[in-house]
Amino acid sequence: MKRPPLLLLHGTGGDENDLIGLGELVGPGSALLSPRGNVLEHGMPRFFRRLSEGVFDEEDLRRRAVELAGFIAQAREAYGLDAPIALGFSNGANIAAALLLLHPQALAGAALLRPMTPLRTAPSAELGGKPVLMLSGAADPIVPAANAGRLADLLKERGAAVRHETLPTGHGLTQADVAQTKAWLAGL
Ligand code: MLT
Repeated sequence: MKRPPLLLLHGTGGDENDLIGLGELVGPGSALLSPRGNVLEHGMPRFFRRLSEGVFDEEDLRRRAVELAGFIAQAREAYGLDAPIALGFSNGANIAAALLLLHPQALAGAALLRPMTPLRTAPSAELGGKPVLMLSGAADPIVPAANAGRLADLLKERGAAVRHETLPTGHGLTQADVAQTKAWLAGL
């Protein structure tokens, strides 16, 4: 199968360079799309505004999800790409989850590293078997286990093929994230 393009979405304070190495490791040969989040929080790029840690400005999130879906459509047209698989970390995973719920046509699937539930009320999207990998950290101080579990349930209820693993780690990424994401992508 032709390798799907990867849409790399960095965490708070990152930029478009952060996940290139990870993308090359987990998806050798895949085209990489790597936008920079266009919201600044005290100078740190993010993909949408938040009111405090874990409390999101959902109006802004919905607006930014429309913008990101537009960017994906333009990039696909410009480069002749299939719909990408999002590879998002933390804030990047959260906007990828929002995209799946709000604009499911934008993505072929997603690998969500340390995601949380992005929206209090999610629309009844039809995810039609789209593959989603969620990797949570058992000792993640930012994402409570119940919150990640709720996201897995939301995505499953909407028909996504969700694999949710909890790794013995915190919010930061580990070699296990690399190995699991690579194996998951190779199996698509
Ligand atoms: C978020 O704001 O998206 C989450 O709290 C994760 C983070 O960026 O720290």
